Amino acid sequence: MAIRTILTDEEPILHKVCKPVEKFDQRLWLLLDDMADTLKKSGGVGLAAPQVGVQRRLFIMDTGNGLKECINPTILERRGEQECVEGCLSSPGEYGMIHRPAVVKLQAQNRDGKYFIVTLEGLAAQCADHESDHLDGILFKSKVDRMLAPDELA
Ligand code: NI
Repeated sequence: MAIRTILTDEEPILHKVCKPVEKFDQRLWLLLDDMADTLKKSGGVGLAAPQVGVQRRLFIMDTGNGLKECINPTILERRGEQECVEGCLSSPGEYGMIHRPAVVKLQAQNRDGKYFIVTLEGLAAQCADHESDHLDGILFKSKVDRMLAPDELA
């Protein structure tokens, strides 16, 4: 396993729509393992493939309940609303106030291609919505109500 470089938001790949994952093979598993190492080292809660230069529809997240690998994810349902402080590993040091769904029902495939459905709330719902946006080339800064000034972060 290895740490991959996290691209920052001026990179064109972060603004593109990602392609579906078609092969559930060793190469995918290596990518997932590397992304897990990279996320752990970063201190973040979610990481999408385009952030490490791979234009494919997958992300991983760990909001405190263990690592989730979500391949070809689809958000089946968004319910409610929460106002959150949000940042992104691709926009280091920048945070904003944003509205996200309070509950997200997500369908995805695991690393073996098996489909699963999970209902996420709170931070996990925020994270899944943020990471799903990455797969469509959408960055949180384009959706924030406002960015926070450095003295608001204390
Ligand atoms: Ni992000």
